[in-house]
Amino acid sequence: MKSEIVVTNPVIECILSRSAAKYYDPATPLSDEQIRELVRIGTSAPTSFHLQNWRFIAVRTPEAKARLSPIAWNQPAIKDAAVTFIVCGQLVETSVIPERLAPLVEAGVMPASMVPEWEVPARNLYMAYPQRRRDEAVRTATFGAAAMIYAARSMGLGSTPMIGFDDEAVHREFGLAGDEVPVLLLSVGAERAGNWAQKPRRPVAEVLDLV
Ligand SMILES: Cc1cc2nc3c(=O)[nH]c(=O)nc-3n(C[C@H](O)[C@H](O)[C@H](O)COP(=O)(O)O)c2cc1C
Repeated sequence: MKSEIVVTNPVIECILSRSAAKYYDPATPLSDEQIRELVRIGTSAPTSFHLQNWRFIAVRTPEAKARLSPIAWNQPAIKDAAVTFIVCGQLVETSVIPERLAPLVEAGVMPASMVPEWEVPARNLYMAYPQRRRDEAVRTATFGAAAMIYAARSMGLGSTPMIGFDDEAVHREFGLAGDEVPVLLLSVGAERAGNWAQKPRRPVAEVLDLV
């Protein structure tokens, strides 16, 4: 007997209807307020130990786009999309945990006594392991970018995550700190006609192991 459960609601619709935009309408800007709102939503994404080890550089003026474009394969999205975020992850530094958790303690979400219970295991998990500190920077930035991608979609905007850039040049040109990794670029803006139809996916049976 075959049973099928089909759940649909606006969130699932938003997720299922997204695709990476190729063509943007260069005549439709986003206000700084809209850009801030996208980042605010992005920062609601989860991070390990609530580290929030990210930073977002919103490249939205013609001058800033002209600086980014040649070090990002001259991808047309950079000039045409309203904004391209340089989504940065920061190498994990667990000494910031008390400061990051202080607002939770103040709000009564977490008891103060629990702060060392997060800081100590986090220190043990990360600080002697450079690869883990960097992996977490990449995870953090990716979760944040994903939230922004779906928020953009829900606002009727297209988005394109992009790895086609020179990471060292972006680091230099946009003054990233030594502990910051430019994880990906994320263009966001109003789309114009001509974007590809959605791409079919590998079958679930091929990618899922039920154990
Ligand atoms: C990490 C990552 C890097 C990507 N880099 C680029 C890029 O540099 N340029 C580009 O046009 N698209 C880029 N893409 C978009 C992918 O090509 C696209 O997501 C993929 O073909 C699946 O299509 P869809 O997003 O429309 O479903 C990237 C996507 C991801 C997740």
